[in-house]
Amino acid sequence: MEFALLNGSIIERSEAKVDVEDRGYQFGDGVYEVIRIYNGKMFTATEHLKRFFKSAESIGISIPFTNLQLKEMLQELLIKNNLETGNIYMQVTRGTAPRNHLFPTENVVPTLVAYTIKGVRPLDGLKSGVKAILTEDIRWLRCDIKSLNLLGNLLAKQKASEQGCFEAIQHRGQDVTEGSSSNIFIVKDGTVITHESNHLILKGITRDVILDLCTKNNIPVQERSFTLVEIESAEEAFLSSTTAEVMPVIEIDGKKINSGIPGPLTRKLQDLFKLEIEKQCGVLVDNVL
Ligand SMILES: Cc1ncc(COP(=O)(O)O)c(C=O)c1O
Repeated sequence: MEFALLNGSIIERSEAKVDVEDRGYQFGDGVYEVIRIYNGKMFTATEHLKRFFKSAESIGISIPFTNLQLKEMLQELLIKNNLETGNIYMQVTRGTAPRNHLFPTENVVPTLVAYTIKGVRPLDGLKSGVKAILTEDIRWLRCDIKSLNLLGNLLAKQKASEQGCFEAIQHRGQDVTEGSSSNIFIVKDGTVITHESNHLILKGITRDVILDLCTKNNIPVQERSFTLVEIESAEEAFLSSTTAEVMPVIEIDGKKINSGIPGPLTRKLQDLFKLEIEKQCGVLVDNVL
């Protein structure tokens, strides 16, 4: 039997239901988070929970639990669902109220839901790399909030998939921002470059781990926006996310990067990232290389 967390109670997943007037369902009025699980343990849980509370606060939703209470409930959910490898998905919405664009005035309790999803590491992509397309970034201007409103992201991802690609790399005019569900990095003259964290991208937890690994290992790094010309002529490219880890990009819009094989710095960061996972969650049995 699978369980889910609904407003502080762990119940049978099939019983976890929300009202049709939940504002998440009607307006996407809420935020979400995904935490990766390896060997039954949460990876970078502190960082994800911090971002969850920050996203909620930035749209005026007050999560009715402390960070620690939520972490303990998620831990209990993990154990009840006996999850070894996969993700915990959680979301909080402004709650249920008669449909109205305005925030409800009376005391409406936010709806908090979490459940687990089984899922192995994407080893084929990690080994061989993936293809991507470039597409105009049509999203709103608060991409730093991990909002439930993902329509722009979904349209981009769907377009990529229909062209046989893993990811859509978005750009505003000449400036590359991020993937539809990932951050994007390039390597130029041996320097790792990724968009600075501002309102145009989500400050990925994986992105932050990678930047930290670069600094600790004397790999030159720059947080700045880069152009379409720069990505097209990049020595290496990779994307990062909770589920995709450090994912080599070997082709963009049909043009090969590094002759179509994952580059040496990307490989090094994959190794360092794996060690980081193992520090927190124990040894990973599956190897990328
Ligand atoms: C738009 C977007 N950017 C970046 C990321 C990567 O963030 P993280 O590394 O925290 O998973 C995600 C992850 O879902 C995302 O949806």
